[in-house]
Amino acid sequence: MDRAPGLSVRLKLTLSYAGFLMLASVLLLAAVWVFLLRYVPDRAMLINPDDRPANGVFPVRSALLDVFAPRAAAVLAFLLVFGLVGGWILAGRMLAPLTRITDAARLASTGSLSHRIRLPGRKDEFRELADVFDGMLERLEVHVAEQQRFAANASHELRTPLAISKTLLDVARSDPTRDTGEIIDRLHAVNTRAIDLTEALLVLSRANQRSFTREHVDLSLMAEQATETLLPLAEKHGVTVETSGDISLAIGSHALLLQLTTNLVHNAIVHNLPEQGTVWVNTSVRFNSVVLTVENTGEKLTTETASTLTSPFQRGTGRIHTDHAGVGLGLTIVETIAHAHDGTLTLTPRSGGGIRIAVELPAVSPHTDRSGEDSGS
Ligand SMILES: Nc1ncnc2c1ncn2[C@@H]1O[C@H](COP(=O)(O)OP(=O)(O)OP(=O)(O)O)[C@@H](O)[C@H]1O
Ligand SMILES: [Mg+2]
Repeated sequence: MDRAPGLSVRLKLTLSYAGFLMLASVLLLAAVWVFLLRYVPDRAMLINPDDRPANGVFPVRSALLDVFAPRAAAVLAFLLVFGLVGGWILAGRMLAPLTRITDAARLASTGSLSHRIRLPGRKDEFRELADVFDGMLERLEVHVAEQQRFAANASHELRTPLAISKTLLDVARSDPTRDTGEIIDRLHAVNTRAIDLTEALLVLSRANQRSFTREHVDLSLMAEQATETLLPLAEKHGVTVETSGDISLAIGSHALLLQLTTNLVHNAIVHNLPEQGTVWVNTSVRFNSVVLTVENTGEKLTTETASTLTSPFQRGTGRIHTDHAGVGLGLTIVETIAHAHDGTLTLTPRSGGGIRIAVELPAVSPHTDRSGEDSGS
């Protein structure tokens, strides 16, 4: 182990143990000495201090000291060695868990996140630290795996339109007699899809960074705007959209919350019944939160399916690739935006088919100023 020069904790603990042992021993010996003195007559006090040893009478105390001092020194020397050795062993045992934690931290710092400390024994301070560390490693590992899966999926999704474009271009080049109009149309569609995907990825990363400016946003206004924009699409799909609810003030990014609402209403329209579907958009105020719910008729869904829909690139029953399918990031974006606003997303299948999606965001407290600046960023 390459440690910067300085006393290790083990050495410091050892020196403290030995130091305390020495102090206690010196105090004890001093007490013994004082105790002994009470039973030894001090003749030096009886004679004239000026002609003390001249008459050949030695004070008894000095004789006692001659006997006591070397033995006391021997005891002290023994206790010093005993303190140092014992302290070294004890400190080593005390610090052993710390070594395990350090080893795990060192492994993690080199990128190996699968290692766990799993410290055995009773719950003490070290065990608590180790458990917290294990928990952190677990979450990091899951998060990193998620990111890697996401990057792999995103690359795969981006490659698809590029590969289709290449095939179309190859066809055009190898067969000049072919109708270029059709190829251009298909290229246009494929290109639009690639742009949609890239834009979805950009929105996702912006929401993830949480670096947007916050302002007061009325969710009922968002719902109105989103439905208005999507009305032509709803008509095309034969879907009726009903909006209702109160003014519901939240704090956040106007653009991101509009994106969230639009994604939800868009989904409710396109993943609806083939005809005569209905979408209900509602906003409401609760005790200290505001809720936006988007509910639609549609195919029957199980609770398990519903819970997987927010995963990136998840489309209904699986990862289907057709030119007409969505990107599969709509709900992932909704969830990310909701979390970036300290909110929650709940998906509940409706018993008659379709789904009810609720986004709950913290309500504006009466103490925040109009700009919402004091809510932090
Ligand atoms: N309101 C809804 N009703 C029924 N199914 C839905 C609803 N919203 C989403 N889904 C299902 O969840 C899947 C994932 O939705 P998501 O919005 O993430 O992707 P998408 O709509 O397929 O593509 P895009 O990224 O273009 O929106 C959809 O493919 C659909 O099967
Ligand atoms: Mg969608």
